[in-house]
Amino acid sequence: MKISGKHYHTIWEKENDPKTVQIIDQRLLPFEFKIQDLKTIQDSFTAIKEMWVRGAPLIGVTAAYGMYLGLLSLKENANLKNQIIDHAKYLESSRPTAVNLKFALDLVLEKISCAKSIKEKTELAFETANKLKADEIENCRLIGENGFPLIEKISAAKRGETVNILTHCNAGWLACVDYGTATAPIYLAHEKGIKIHVWVDETRPRNQGARLTAYELEQEGIPHTVIADNTGGLLMQKGMVDMVIVGSDRTSANGDVANKIGTYLKALAATDNNIPFYVALPLSTIDWNINDGIKEIPIEQRSEDEVKYIEGWHDNKITQVRLMPENSPVANYGFDVTPAKYVTALITEKGVCETNEEEINNLR
Ligand code: MRU
Repeated sequence: MKISGKHYHTIWEKENDPKTVQIIDQRLLPFEFKIQDLKTIQDSFTAIKEMWVRGAPLIGVTAAYGMYLGLLSLKENANLKNQIIDHAKYLESSRPTAVNLKFALDLVLEKISCAKSIKEKTELAFETANKLKADEIENCRLIGENGFPLIEKISAAKRGETVNILTHCNAGWLACVDYGTATAPIYLAHEKGIKIHVWVDETRPRNQGARLTAYELEQEGIPHTVIADNTGGLLMQKGMVDMVIVGSDRTSANGDVANKIGTYLKALAATDNNIPFYVALPLSTIDWNINDGIKEIPIEQRSEDEVKYIEGWHDNKITQVRLMPENSPVANYGFDVTPAKYVTALITEKGVCETNEEEINNLR
C-alpha cells in the first residue's frame, strides 16, 4: 500500500545488502516515518517484542527473517542443530499470543532440516522467509476478494448508500505485509467504487487504531472517523454500523478468536444489535492444536506504562504524559478471546466460513 504516494511493504531485504532486512518503525507512526535495519537475530527479537513491527502476519514474517539473520552468525560446529533450535525458542519467546510466530518458526525449521551445510541452511531460511512474505501478501489479497462480496451485498441492500464498517486495532497492511486482513475487503470495495466509511476504534492502550489504521486509511483516501473505544455500542444501537470486521492474532480450531483487547465487547454489542461480526485472517493464524480458545490461548500482559502514560505529538516531538496517580496499580492485558458463537463468519484466503469446527477444518 502507499505512504505519501509511494508503494511500500512492511518488511523487505535492503537493496544491495542481502544481510540486512528493513522494516518501517511502527512505534513512530503516524508522526515520523523511519526505516530501521535489522542485522541480527537480536534485532528481530527486539523489533517484535518492542512492537517496532506488530500484527500477527508481520510478526511471523519478521521471525522467519530473524531465523535467517541468526544463521548468518553461526559457524559449522557439532552443536549446530541445538543452536538453531535455541534461536527458534528465543524468537518464539518475544510475544506469546500471535500464533503466526510459531507457524513461521516451524516452517523455517522444517525447510532447513534437510540441508547439510550452514551455507545451504542459510540460503533455505532466506528463501523460506521470502516465500512466506509472498504468501502472506497473496493471502491478504485473497481475503480482500473473498470479503468484498459481503460489503457489496450490504451496499446493494442500502441501494448504494454508504456502508459503515467498524474495525478495532490495526488489522491493516501495517500488521501484515500488504493489503491487511480486515482492511483488504475495505480497500477493494473502495477501489471498486462502493461508498464506504470506517469507524476506527482508537484501541487503547497503544492506540493502534488511532495511530496506524487511521494513518493507513488516510493515506489511501478512505473516509473514516476515529472513535473512543467505548463508542461502538452506541453507534450500533443508532443504526450507524452495518458490519464489523476485525483481524485475529490466534483463532482456535473451533473458531474462538483472540484479538486486541476490547474486541470481545464489540462482538457482544454487535450480536445484541444483529450486526454481522466478521473476522478476517489467513490460515496461518489458526491454531489447529487448540479447541478451546478461551481456556487455551495465552494472553500477553504488557508493561503498566502503556496504560499509565499516553503518547502523542507535542512541540514537534513524540511525547508521553502520565494519565493517573503515579502509584495506582495498573493491569495491561493485550488481547481477549471472542467465543465462536459471536462471530458471524471467518474471512480467509480459502473462502468465507462459519465458525464451527467442521467448516473451519474444511479450509485446510
Ligand atoms: O499488539 P498488536 O498490535 O500486535 O496486535 C495486533 C492485533 O490485535 C491485530 O488486530 C491482529 O494482529 C490482526 S493483524 C492482521
